[in-house]
Amino acid sequence: MYLGLDLGTSGLKGVLFTEDQVLADQATAPLSVERPHPGWSEQSPATWLQAATHVLDTLAARNDLSAVRGIGLSGQMHGATLLDAADDVLRPCILWNDTRSHVEAAAMDADPRFRQITGNIVFPGFTAPKLAWVRANEPAIFARVAKVLLPKDYLRLWLTGEHVAEMSDAAGTSWLDTGARDWSDDLLSATDLSRDHMPRLVEGADVSGTIRAALADRWNMRSDVVVAGGAGDNAASAIGMGVVKAGQAFLSLGTSGVLFAATDSYAPDPDTAVHSFCHALPGQWHQMGVILSATDALNWFARGVGSNAAALTLALGEEVQAPGDAIFLPYLGGERTPHNDAAIRGAFVGLAHGADTASLTRAVLEGVAYAFADCRDALAATGTTLERATAVGGGSLSTHWLQILANATGLIIDVPEDGDFGGAFGAARLGMMAAHGAGAELATPPRIARSIQPQADLVPAFAAAHERYKAAYQALRGLSG
Ligand code: XUL
Repeated sequence: MYLGLDLGTSGLKGVLFTEDQVLADQATAPLSVERPHPGWSEQSPATWLQAATHVLDTLAARNDLSAVRGIGLSGQMHGATLLDAADDVLRPCILWNDTRSHVEAAAMDADPRFRQITGNIVFPGFTAPKLAWVRANEPAIFARVAKVLLPKDYLRLWLTGEHVAEMSDAAGTSWLDTGARDWSDDLLSATDLSRDHMPRLVEGADVSGTIRAALADRWNMRSDVVVAGGAGDNAASAIGMGVVKAGQAFLSLGTSGVLFAATDSYAPDPDTAVHSFCHALPGQWHQMGVILSATDALNWFARGVGSNAAALTLALGEEVQAPGDAIFLPYLGGERTPHNDAAIRGAFVGLAHGADTASLTRAVLEGVAYAFADCRDALAATGTTLERATAVGGGSLSTHWLQILANATGLIIDVPEDGDFGGAFGAARLGMMAAHGAGAELATPPRIARSIQPQADLVPAFAAAHERYKAAYQALRGLSG
């Protein structure tokens, strides 16, 4: 058996699968986000360990974990987990969707070395500008920083006792030479840090360590169970869905929204606000457009009208209509692709007397879909054109939303047969690769239950509404904050 652990933003999930990659069991534990100030987003790393303990205790109570041969880790990317010399956590982790460091990010982005070496804009959500913010605002904490770990790598430290990172997640720090797959001493020293503050780097399917004896005892695991490098949650999902070759893509409707494309080579184009990162397998890279609020936007709206996301989408029925007058901009916490705008905020535009819960729900689903259409355009500007993408993430349970996405993006959306092929599944595959010394041959695509085609009669109306959506952003930028 193999175990995959995915440390998400809203919860931690563990899956167990067999030698044939058949799902044996899964368990989850919820996580919450603290937002002490506008634009801030934090979690206490102690809550990750509590969640992981709960998930593993649950799996161990229902399964014989002595059969586990490999563990893989997946996790929310970019978070800054700051440790002192005794590996004690110095402050809450600053998460991927925290934009407090936009001033520091802009200053670093103005230093041409960052885009040249990392292949990416220095976004405020990335790790390095967060350290610059801590240096400026919490100097006593900065002075004590001995190691900076990404969230899943803190989980690894707890599981194995090792300070290790892997390429796909490290590429989102703004400290990695993405083409060379190594830390950049130049970029680290620009943040008053050095290689000593960084974990050792491995590839996603490499062994990063073995499980600590105390934990192996607690869950009745063998003491030689290997923990693979793993991957950032997006690269891990790609491994789960067999997105490893150029032309293959997935669309993730999670807390964030991601349009992810595997690429043949490393071909960065930072001006487009597309992310160009290492993939989880050696010698492979990928590109993605990232929007900060996908299901997060729908959950926000549902809370406001005293409902929940599933009930709201179910109430819309099956038939998708042409877009209405109301346009929603999902920029509740700023946006990455294509704007790199930490100050923009969400908006409803074009409300009329007839606006009701159903029409506003549709506007929210459509707004997120136009944000994906922007990502499609940004990827196309780098030469990455897509015909289809596999759907993943909590929001993809709504066929209505997927149809809206197909209409707005023109992409054929493939829906996998029952099963969850997201980060935890991909992580388990990386655990299996590490245990067997295997690679991409284990990352096969799932069987597709159905493919959602864009509705030709509605596509022009969605394209026209996408133009209004883009104009609304241009009209509103600069007004927030
Ligand atoms: C990717 C990103 C998000 C997080 C969500 O750049 O910031 O997709 O990984 O967990």
